[in-house]
Amino acid sequence: MRVAMIGTGYVGLVSGACFADFGHTVCCIDKDAGKIERLNGGVMPIYEPGLEQLVARNVDEGRLSFAVEADEAVRNADAVFIAVGTPSRRGDGHADLSYVHQAAEEIAALMDGFTVVVTKSTVPVGTGDEIERLIRSLRPDADFAVVSNPEFLREGAAINDFKRPDRVVVGADDERARAVMTELYRPLNLNETPILFTERRTSELIKYAANAFLAMKITFINEVADLCEAVGADVQQVARGIGLDNRIGSKFLHAGPGYGGSCFPKDTKALVRTAVAAGSPIELIEATVRVNDKRKKAMAAKVAKALDGELAGKTIGVLGLTFKPNTDDMRDAPSLDIVPALQAMGATIQAYDPQAHEARALFADVDFKDGPYEAVTGADAVVILTEWDQFRALDLDRVKLLMAGPVVVDLRNIYRPAEMLARGFRYSSVGRA
Ligand SMILES: NC(=O)c1ccc[n+]([C@@H]2O[C@H](COP(=O)([O-])OP(=O)(O)OC[C@H]3O[C@@H](n4cnc5c(N)ncnc54)[C@H](O)[C@@H]3O)[C@@H](O)[C@H]2O)c1
Repeated sequence: MRVAMIGTGYVGLVSGACFADFGHTVCCIDKDAGKIERLNGGVMPIYEPGLEQLVARNVDEGRLSFAVEADEAVRNADAVFIAVGTPSRRGDGHADLSYVHQAAEEIAALMDGFTVVVTKSTVPVGTGDEIERLIRSLRPDADFAVVSNPEFLREGAAINDFKRPDRVVVGADDERARAVMTELYRPLNLNETPILFTERRTSELIKYAANAFLAMKITFINEVADLCEAVGADVQQVARGIGLDNRIGSKFLHAGPGYGGSCFPKDTKALVRTAVAAGSPIELIEATVRVNDKRKKAMAAKVAKALDGELAGKTIGVLGLTFKPNTDDMRDAPSLDIVPALQAMGATIQAYDPQAHEARALFADVDFKDGPYEAVTGADAVVILTEWDQFRALDLDRVKLLMAGPVVVDLRNIYRPAEMLARGFRYSSVGRA
């Protein structure tokens, strides 16, 4: 199959490279000429484990290419994917569909012969109908079908998630389009991946319902963690105790500073907007959004409490700034709320993140260090914000010697309270005595 991927970000680049690895011929297109130039020079625009090798192999073998102009790739494509951003619209939280509409217009102008236009971007219910109307109005003559194929990959594990997904969801009402989608994903038959064919609107909603459910699960355990602190229970044991129940499941039950990232915050807000507009509000998700926003802000107070309420003149070493490990993505990272709040209370921040290049531009007055030990040196308190592997086995005696004070606030629960106390730290974590 010949594939054109409009938008070469986290999703477009990973999906494009994986489709090429399946044996399809893929051209990834992006308006950002600098990004395409870097990709053509073998330099990845994002940090994602395994991506550089995957891209290099498929470029070398002639199945993967990159371009700024969509012309040739779209004209020749069996399937054109839309994988552009759908950020929150400023002010109302609705998904901003301007990039999607623009991509649809560009595709309309170029497509030739039967073309399947596949929306991989996360888009509100009814967007497929709009795209179809838009293309039809511009090209009444065109032979095309619009399909919804939401993406469920996680940054940091994106290649594996794309190649070994729990399921693939395809919302298509057109038989020819279903056949093209079946062919595109045929390599997944080997691992017997379920492919759920459904109606387009249903497929669009599946994506939001999935993300909202996971965000709600995280928020649930975060509130249970607060209760654990209040009553003297251990949230990790509670999570294990409930997670072993198959009806609940153990994933997404890790208490922490609140969910962030490029998807959950914007997708929960967009679902809330869709539901209100449809006259069928989802109050559970409204509460999830509210509780999570409040939580990120409350984390700075937790750090202040660990320092007896006084941050003025204190130096805090922050370990980890990205919203989760193994990505450089800073979109809606909890650190963006927590670090400025600590600064506002008078703290001086020195920080280390293994992938700090995105973060550097986003924080004012943060002293970026070259490693975890440099970041803890002279600190009155250390705050662990992201559970990068390299923070899990720090030489704690060395950390203690380097620090000016003994306070560690572990917002990811990567250390054991008893061990930390035994080593002389004043240690606090989330939902544990
Ligand atoms: N990041 C994730 O983990 C993830 C996971 C699942 C789904 N999604 C969804 O996938 C979509 C894309 O997310 P992302 O994180 O890859 O976004 P991104 O911002 O990393 O990438 C989007 C890219 O599209 C390009 N672009 C915009 N308009 C264009 C146009 N008309 N022509 C060519 N290029 C254009 C931008 O320059 C940018 O490089 C979003 O809807 C998101 O919600 C993201």
